[in-house]
Amino acid sequence: MQTISEPTVAPDRADGEPLLQVTDLEVKFGTEDGVVHAVRGVSYSLSPGETLGIVGESGSGKSVTSLAVMGLLPATARITGSVLFRGRELLGRSDRELSQVRGKGIAMIFQDPMTSLNPVYKIGFQIDETLRQHDRSLSRKAARARTVDLLRLVGIPNAAERANSYPHEFSGGMRQRVVIAIAMANEPDVIIADEPTTALDVTVQAQILEVLKTAQQETGAATVLITHDLGVVAGMADRVLVMYAGRPVEVGTVDDIYYSPGMPYTLGLLGSLPRLDARERQRLTPIPGSPPSLISPPPGCPFGPRCPMHLDLCDTAEPPLAIVGPGHQVACVRSAELARPEVSAIDVYAEAAEARPPAVAGPPAVASPALSQPNGSTPTTVEEAQ
Ligand SMILES: Nc1ncnc2c1ncn2[C@@H]1O[C@H](COP(=O)(O)OP(=O)(O)OP(=O)(O)O)[C@@H](O)[C@H]1O
Ligand SMILES: [Mg+2]
Repeated sequence: MQTISEPTVAPDRADGEPLLQVTDLEVKFGTEDGVVHAVRGVSYSLSPGETLGIVGESGSGKSVTSLAVMGLLPATARITGSVLFRGRELLGRSDRELSQVRGKGIAMIFQDPMTSLNPVYKIGFQIDETLRQHDRSLSRKAARARTVDLLRLVGIPNAAERANSYPHEFSGGMRQRVVIAIAMANEPDVIIADEPTTALDVTVQAQILEVLKTAQQETGAATVLITHDLGVVAGMADRVLVMYAGRPVEVGTVDDIYYSPGMPYTLGLLGSLPRLDARERQRLTPIPGSPPSLISPPPGCPFGPRCPMHLDLCDTAEPPLAIVGPGHQVACVRSAELARPEVSAIDVYAEAAEARPPAVAGPPAVASPALSQPNGSTPTTVEEAQ
């Protein structure tokens, strides 16, 4: 097993330089209860046109990672590492310098569209202004024509008329379409979408993901798609970075993650997804327990207490990310057992889960967020989940 200190998502495209290169990013927050180590050594790089999915349970550091990239964390955050955008270091830059990058260089789409929309201005005006800031020679009339085009592209009916509405006159899904239109107006190189569909119901979620694909095609932007749902990244991402307790625990292509996962946590997330191809009534397995505290966590693998494949060895040191295949890295001492081609990693994990409950009893079993239903109940079979 070979350990690495290189960026964990290597640029694998022929078109050269990565657009965004994050290396050893660490974020700590000083709080009354102690220092919260929210991000612990995240590295990735994003090539032009690529989509990277970042997946993990609530509190795993997905948003803090992205906010650090955008320079949007509060002053209480201590950030170290490096964030290169087109080869230029962003960490340590002033808000004024970063505002040149935000929007045009890197656009961010948040879970709550009202974070990005101003409630007191009409939708059309907000897009017109974005376009005119982007291209100062654009007349008001030309800007409005482009605004209406953009609203049409993101699927707003009666776009010319609806441009004169205020954000509160739109539904949540329509507002998220508008936010994507604003991101497109900037023609960004990179779009970071932080759980863009989580607040929406399932049918609208699928539509918004389609709109996001349209935005990628129209602008050619590389995308970081943050979600707690491995099902969402399957249809969108080229590569996936799985985060647990502030650090990457598995990185690979979508096929690596779905067909040869090497980290029990990834298997836990997969086990809690309903499979449409299951022939028999399929039991969905929630991951028991909850993630650890990020204030002075105990030594060893942070997933250890919840892991059905836990060994005593796991309590001594946190395993580093190690290469298990081309572009595929895993932080687990048992990854070699899972990566054997002759066995199904899902079966190995499921047998271990049945034979042996987690080493340390955590709080009552909670479903992974990928499983959560809008009413808070936990489905246990595919039929119930559908
Ligand atoms: N300003 C802050 N001060 C102190 N701790 C913070 C602050 N912001 C975030 N955290 C902590 O950092 C950790 C990571 O938070 P983050 O918001 O990145 O999680 P996440 O993976 O995006 O989760 P979710 O899926 O719920 O959005 C959490 O434990 C959170 O409580
Ligand atoms: Mg978040």
